[in-house]
Amino acid sequence: MALILGIESSCDETAAAVIDGNGTTLAARIVAQRIASQDEAHRPYGGVVPEIAARAHVEVLGPMVEAVLADAGISLDHVDAIAATAGPGLIGGVMVGLVTAKALAMAADKPLVAVNHLEGHALSPRLADPSLQYPYLLLLVSGGHCQILEVAGVGRYRRLATTIDDALGEAFDKTAKILGLGYPGGPAVERLAREGNPRAVPLPRPLVGSGEPHFSFAGLKSAVMRAKDAGIHADADIAASFQQAALDCVVDRTRIALATAALGMTALVVAGGVAANAALRGALEALAASHNLPLVAPPPKLCTDNAAMIGWAGAERFALGYSDPLDVAARPRWPLDDNAAPVRGAGVKA
Ligand code: KG4
Ligand code: ZN
Repeated sequence: MALILGIESSCDETAAAVIDGNGTTLAARIVAQRIASQDEAHRPYGGVVPEIAARAHVEVLGPMVEAVLADAGISLDHVDAIAATAGPGLIGGVMVGLVTAKALAMAADKPLVAVNHLEGHALSPRLADPSLQYPYLLLLVSGGHCQILEVAGVGRYRRLATTIDDALGEAFDKTAKILGLGYPGGPAVERLAREGNPRAVPLPRPLVGSGEPHFSFAGLKSAVMRAKDAGIHADADIAASFQQAALDCVVDRTRIALATAALGMTALVVAGGVAANAALRGALEALAASHNLPLVAPPPKLCTDNAAMIGWAGAERFALGYSDPLDVAARPRWPLDDNAAPVRGAGVKA
């Protein structure tokens, strides 16, 4: 067994997991995991309030680590390394998790592995599907990021595309807010969309047809707002039409990326919170099949933020000999591909 304690606290989920890096199935790899959502605390504000998030992490994380070790039937002495998200994310929350991991590492004399949250998402499909081999083409769609990357190995990423304004999850969350569906928005929009007509409301498909596979969702969000203000459409039709427009964009952009990616990709892979969306998975399934590639998507619970993916990324890194000094810094911004060229347009979230 190669036991890794994983800690996640970069946004509004506090999570801890014990991972066996030598496990050969998903069930054997996740020895124990716990997750506490802060949805209730943030709901009145319609989005995550960083200070509330950081305080909630402080309250929850310590007892949660004790509980997850008890669930796994081990003590801290039994773990081989402690992995924690060191960024990118809301810096107060990241610091809570990273400082906790540092204290545990120091007290128990264990190696620390500082994990990039995006690498957690990027490698989560390998946690879920032990047969997934590098290199693969990854669509990473979360609340803060919307990128297409070639994943050649641990720490080896080439970014083919990013968003020039909003992330896909952000577009879902803003649409939910416009429709008064509350927070978090993605699952609520998906539920309402099932009751609507995806062709009822004419909405734009920003950047569809452009040669580079980048994304843009700000114009779509404004069009959703105008459609709502017009007062003539059922909310379910707006939700369904929004989701269809967003998915049309994602499929078109991913098709361009598949055409420009290096040869030898073993699979089309989708990860990050929005990968929990069943309509998105269905649309990508068809796209992958048309390129004779399998679509690999983690189970929905491993798509949204969790500590199993952080523990797994830590396990992959630790197996390659990587660990980090105890003074490693928390990073609010931490791109997977440092060499990616800046993209034209304002407010790029790389
Ligand atoms: O990966 P994640 O949990 O946190 C970040 O790292 O950002 O992603 C959260 C995002 C939110 O924007 C949420 O609305 C979206 O993923 N999301 C969904 C669904 N489930 C979560 N979007 C669309 N459909 C869903 N079923
Ligand atoms: Zn995330």
